[in-house]
Amino acid sequence: MTAIDYTQKIPNNVDLSSDKRLQRALEHWQPAYQQWWHEMGPTDFETNEIYLRTAVSVDSDGWAHFGHVKMPDYRWGIFLEPQQQGRVVPFGDHLGQPVWQEVPGEFRTELRRLIVTQADTEPASVEQQRLLGHTAPSLYDLRNLFQVNVEEGRHLWAMVYLLHRYFGKDGRTEAEELLERRSGNADHPRILGTFNEPITTWLDFFMFTMFTDRDGKFQLLAFAESGFDPLARTCRFMLTEEAHHMFVGQTGVGRVIQRTCEVMNEFPDADPAEHGAIPLPLIQKYVNFWVASSTDLYGSEISSNAANYFAAGLKGRAYEEKKYSEHTALGESFMVERPENGSLTRSEVPLRNALNEVLRSDYLEDNQKGVDYWNRICEKANLSFRFSLPHRRFNRKIGIYTGLYFDLEGAPISREEFERRQHQWLPTPEDRAYVTSLMKPVFEPGKIAGWIAAPSKGVNGQPFEFDYVRL
Ligand SMILES: [Fe+2]
Ligand SMILES: [Fe+2]
Repeated sequence: MTAIDYTQKIPNNVDLSSDKRLQRALEHWQPAYQQWWHEMGPTDFETNEIYLRTAVSVDSDGWAHFGHVKMPDYRWGIFLEPQQQGRVVPFGDHLGQPVWQEVPGEFRTELRRLIVTQADTEPASVEQQRLLGHTAPSLYDLRNLFQVNVEEGRHLWAMVYLLHRYFGKDGRTEAEELLERRSGNADHPRILGTFNEPITTWLDFFMFTMFTDRDGKFQLLAFAESGFDPLARTCRFMLTEEAHHMFVGQTGVGRVIQRTCEVMNEFPDADPAEHGAIPLPLIQKYVNFWVASSTDLYGSEISSNAANYFAAGLKGRAYEEKKYSEHTALGESFMVERPENGSLTRSEVPLRNALNEVLRSDYLEDNQKGVDYWNRICEKANLSFRFSLPHRRFNRKIGIYTGLYFDLEGAPISREEFERRQHQWLPTPEDRAYVTSLMKPVFEPGKIAGWIAAPSKGVNGQPFEFDYVRL
C-alpha cells in the first residue's frame, strides 16, 4: 500500500492505473501543470541539475531519496498516508461515526472551498519566489529554495488529486483555475493576501518559510484530523515535507543573525551595515511584518464558518485527537478581546466560533520557539539584543482589529501615533533598499555571501562545499 509506483506517468500510491478515467483526467492536467512550472516556476535554472529529495515512500523513516535532477524532470506525484481501518470522525457533530471515503453531499461546497483555498497557496508561493534564484547567497541556499519550490508544486498535486477524484467536473474546473490565478496580479490574484506579497529578497524568503509556511503547518494539522479521510491522509504526508520548509526559514534567519553578531563583535563601535551585515533591529522589523501578515491567514477571530467546518467534521483543531479529551467543543467558551468604542473589552465567545483564534494561538506559541532559538544565538555571542513577536493585534488586515491601530505590545494607539512610529516597527523603503542591495549571487561551491553565516551542516550528510546545484 505504501509503496510508490514510479513506473507510471504520474507517480502515486493510490493505485491510479485502476481508475482509467481519473488517470486520463490527471494526465491531461499534467502538461498544463508543466507549462505553468515553465512559465511561473523558478526562472532560468531549468537545465541545471539540483540535489533534490524525492519521496519514495510515505513511511516516516527512509521516505526520501536524494539525487541530482533537473527541476522540469522532477517526479511530482500523489502520495497519501495509508488508510487506518476503523477510523472515526474525531470531532464535531458526527463524532465517533465512521469517516467518509467519499464527499458527503451536504458538505460538498464547504469542503471544496477549503481544499481550493489550501491548494491556491501552493503554486502562489512558487510564483512569489521565482526570481530569488538569481541572488542566492550560496549553492546550499539555492538548492533549499528549489527543494521548497518543487515540494510546493507537489502539494498542488496533492490537492488537485482530491479535486479531480472527489469533485467531478467542478473539481476539474477548480484545478484549471489553480494554474490561472497569479500571485500579485491585480486582475487575477491568488486567494489569500499574504500569497500576493512579493518576496524579493532572501530575508523575506526566510521570514516567509519561517512564518507563512508555519501557517501552512497549522492548517494542515487541522485538516489532518478531518472526517473526510482522503483529505486527512493527504495532509499527513504533506506535513512530513513541510517540516523542511520551516527548517529553512528558522535556520536561515538564524544564520543572518549569526553573521550580524559576528560582525558586531568584530567591530563593536560600528554599525553592522557598514560591514555588510543586516542590523538586528532591521531583522526585527521584518519579523514584525511577516508575523502580522501570516497571523491574518487564520481569518476572523469570531467566525461562523470555522464553527460550521468544525461541526461538520471537516476541519478540526491542531492535534485534536492527541491534545483534547472533549471533542464537540460545545458548552465551552473562549475569551476574545473585542474592540469597542476605542478600548478593548474581554468577552466570552462560544468555543466553536473562536476556533480560528484557537489555531492562531497554537501558531503563535510555535513561532515563539523559533524566536527563542534566535535569541540563543544572540546570547551565545554575548550580545544583549533579543527578538520578540509582535502582539497578535499588531498591523492586522483581517479580523476584528482591522482598521484599528496597536503598538507591538497590542496597546491601542491612534492612527497618528501609528504613522509616526511605524518606521521603527516595519521595514521602511530605505530598509528594503539596503537589504536588496546585499542580494548578490554567490554560486561558487563552499562560498557564501557576507550577510549570512554558513550552515552548521549540509544536506543529507553532504558537506557545505558540495555541488548542490550544477551550474
Ligand atoms: Fe505547501
Ligand atoms: Fe511549505
